[in-house]
Amino acid sequence: MPPARLVRAARVGIVGAMTTPPDGLRSALDAALAAVPSRELADATAALVARYRDVRPAGSPILTTATQVAAYAAYRMPATHAALRRVLRDVAQHLPETATPRSVLDLGGGTGAAAWAAAEVWGDLESVTVLDQVEPALALGRRLVAGAPGALGRARFDRALAGAWPADGADLVTVSYVLSELTGIQQERLVDDAMARGRVVVVVEPGTPDGYRRVLDARGRLLASGWSLLGPCPHEARCPLVGSDWCHFAARVNRSAEHRRIKGGTLSYEDEKFSWVAAVAPDVAVPQQDRGRVLRHPLKRKGLVELTLCRPDGSAGRDVVSKRAGERYRLARDVAWGDELPLA
Ligand SMILES: C[S@@+](CC[C@H](N)C(=O)[O-])C[C@H]1O[C@@H](n2cnc3c(N)ncnc32)[C@H](O)[C@@H]1O
Repeated sequence: MPPARLVRAARVGIVGAMTTPPDGLRSALDAALAAVPSRELADATAALVARYRDVRPAGSPILTTATQVAAYAAYRMPATHAALRRVLRDVAQHLPETATPRSVLDLGGGTGAAAWAAAEVWGDLESVTVLDQVEPALALGRRLVAGAPGALGRARFDRALAGAWPADGADLVTVSYVLSELTGIQQERLVDDAMARGRVVVVVEPGTPDGYRRVLDARGRLLASGWSLLGPCPHEARCPLVGSDWCHFAARVNRSAEHRRIKGGTLSYEDEKFSWVAAVAPDVAVPQQDRGRVLRHPLKRKGLVELTLCRPDGSAGRDVVSKRAGERYRLARDVAWGDELPLA
């Protein structure tokens, strides 16, 4: 008999393809991190891991020193980049061509994870701007993109504080893993500031119940302002998971040897859990969603795929797709948690 672990692996849909940072980012990170002693990186990483477990908003910047920023870039940036890449690819599929972004503004962008992901998804960007309060994070971000091609290589990394962002806008505004560091009022203001500066707004948070709650608040604010959702929800009704569950997804990230060393892990990968919402401004027409969103690992058995779907009618629940469903079954066999599937 095969070990239970293998049986489970065969039955359960994987998180999606393993992701690694693009070569340019990986080599730039390796070069930047080589200058920091491993012991210092490991200590700073342990302190950051503990701080990010704390759900209280940050009264003062969490990242302050160059070593803390290097630790963030080593252990968090590949994961936030992987989540952003997954989200932005999804957004690209739903955006009408007329709203394809040429410019990106990343608020609270730190070392630039979202900028890298956006440049991978939209290869012909014209401008990329990353704003953050922490100069050492911006300095590392500048260093990382120095050899990158196109708009990413010319990206501006400028110092700015939430609530006092420059007025300049962009087609796409990203707010990734920032809300948790702000008070409730600051979070609301940040979503409003993002809407005031862009036509497409993407908010990503850790895939925890807290992160989901912040994403739900952002979703409510976007909808109340007349924006249309691009994802992950296939509807604009109340989230059917409220009170019983939380909506989150995962991206599997390859762990570098450095990552394993400083974080003390042995696995060659980790699953970055994230919650997200993306929306477009009222003047952008988006087609009605006609597919469900896969909310869990699909369970794949011989001739059957069992899924939990969020549906365009605002409901969420179990869906069993058998071989008799033909094309839908073939599609269901290949979907992973977070993907979409046409309805029966
Ligand atoms: C967890 S990091 C996320 C960085 C990046 N967006 C990513 O996804 O990897 C949070 C970032 O938000 C920035 N931030 C937090 N509060 C801020 C504020 N009040 N004004 C500007 N930036 C802020 C921090 O300096 C930090 O770089």
